[in-house]
Amino acid sequence: MFWLTLVTCFLFVSWGTAVDVNWYKNIIVYQIYPRSFKDGNGDGIGDLNGITSKLEHVADIGAKALWLSPIYKSPQVDFGYDISNFTDVDPNYGTLADFDRLIAKARRLKLKVIMDFVPNHSSNQHPWFQKSIRKVKPYDQYYVWRDAKIVNGKRQPPNNWLSNFGGSAWQWNDVRKQYYLHQFATAQPDLNYRNTALNQEMKNVLTFWMNRGVDGFRIAAINFMFEDAKFRDERRSNKTGIPKDDYDSLVHIYTKDQNETYVTLKSWRKLMDEYSNRTKSDPKLILTEAYTTHDLTIKYYNAGSNVPFNFMFINQLNNESSAMDFKRLIDKWVRTVPKGSVPNWVVGNHDNHRVATRFGRGRADDVILMSMIMPGISVIYNGDEIGMVDRKFTYAETVDPAGCSAGRNRYHLKSRDPARTPYQWNNSTSAGFSTKAKTWLPVHSDYKTLNLEAQRDIYITQYEKFKKSMMVKKRAVVAHGSLNITLCDSRILCVMRAYGRDRIFVLFGFIDVPITIDAETVLPFPSDLVVHTVIGDSELRPGTFVLSGSITIPASGAIMFATPNLLSSNDENL
Ligand code: GLC
Repeated sequence: MFWLTLVTCFLFVSWGTAVDVNWYKNIIVYQIYPRSFKDGNGDGIGDLNGITSKLEHVADIGAKALWLSPIYKSPQVDFGYDISNFTDVDPNYGTLADFDRLIAKARRLKLKVIMDFVPNHSSNQHPWFQKSIRKVKPYDQYYVWRDAKIVNGKRQPPNNWLSNFGGSAWQWNDVRKQYYLHQFATAQPDLNYRNTALNQEMKNVLTFWMNRGVDGFRIAAINFMFEDAKFRDERRSNKTGIPKDDYDSLVHIYTKDQNETYVTLKSWRKLMDEYSNRTKSDPKLILTEAYTTHDLTIKYYNAGSNVPFNFMFINQLNNESSAMDFKRLIDKWVRTVPKGSVPNWVVGNHDNHRVATRFGRGRADDVILMSMIMPGISVIYNGDEIGMVDRKFTYAETVDPAGCSAGRNRYHLKSRDPARTPYQWNNSTSAGFSTKAKTWLPVHSDYKTLNLEAQRDIYITQYEKFKKSMMVKKRAVVAHGSLNITLCDSRILCVMRAYGRDRIFVLFGFIDVPITIDAETVLPFPSDLVVHTVIGDSELRPGTFVLSGSITIPASGAIMFATPNLLSSNDENL
């Protein structure tokens, strides 16, 4: 892990100001889904003032940056990912002045603020699209328009491309007499990045938010930005048992991952670097969302992304995975990260089932702990720190366009509502999320016992474990130490980090019964180590030495040992 020796480098640019070029290299990024985090005005929908009132919590969990899912003006077809004004705040969430107040408080708490940036599409209500329909210049070229294909005298979409939310990716427009492309909902027309004016507009959007104090961007669905210039049909996949118009029925070689995406990203990196150089501020963070192959993900580093999301905990590993599966994938990631960059570990997000639902409670805590003891960036979705789980939705309750368009029989396979329920703050009305009893999505019924307040002061709770895991993240041994992952036996994953005299050694048990092992055979330098954190039921107490005899790893749990100096909560200046 010698590539990780990130000698913290402060560039002193003028008296009293220092630019920290490494500020993001060993941190927690906390994702806030604004609609569901905290409702400040009692209308049942989360908002900016609600978030601002809870920023202390973000600092409390040890996050250095918060990433806000979209707060832009939007008809809310895809709950903010359909944007009708890229430079204004939706009234549901507040005003630009509320946003400025959020930034100011974040500054006081030393939190960086990352905006979601949605380049692939706008809302069909965006004035650009309305003008594009009427062929007003230069907007006529801002979207991807094609003529119909006429088959047997009948109008057909130009090719077989499908939308992520099911059905054709083409929608006929009767005014313009052409089809437009939408890789997501019909109300989300794809923008045309082969048009230079549109390119410049989107750069202006980035500058607008940087001027308002934003520290970086999470770029949504980046790998959908370009499509094949020849508009060729995609071939069918070999997936069976799915409808013909399901997105997964095609292999997406012409609508995703096109090379020009990386070129455009480089231009945004340049824009942001020029901005931070000019304003003598910390470098802007770019996080990129692309569900794609390992190699194409890693390629985003070279195009300027600091955090090409590593979704291994979401789409490659689950509660059936073995210790070896974890080792293989983690090693591969760490090995392939380019020199000077850092790995990242996404635990959950608003598009997938919650980590505690995917892995089960115990293993979910293991995954969170793994994300904290690994070098780099841990990305945590709001609510996962208290172990929130998915809520089951009926079809009638479903509001997510991905779920609604899948229909009554398949909505449960596609809907993302289950992971988006309101944050559970306490056991009062609507879990303390809102003063209103009816919230935009129902609160999970387990909130009376599963909530932050109930967990905060009680020993051995999800939240307490989260905070202990988070404390090691802040230590130099995690930021700069060597990393060694081995299998102590086929059921036990052992992770060791070492830096100078500091050591962390974690045993993860990959079986749903307790495993007892001989301490001396697995623990290197046992006399140096004390128990730091235990995941699962155990008699081991933090702070105790385990020099010899046997150790029992709890069922689907873990034990973290560390040198005693790491028990205290002292932050280190990394
Ligand atoms: C991003 C968002 C997702 C949204 C999609 C299309 O992937 O994470 O929630 O549906 O963009 O807008």
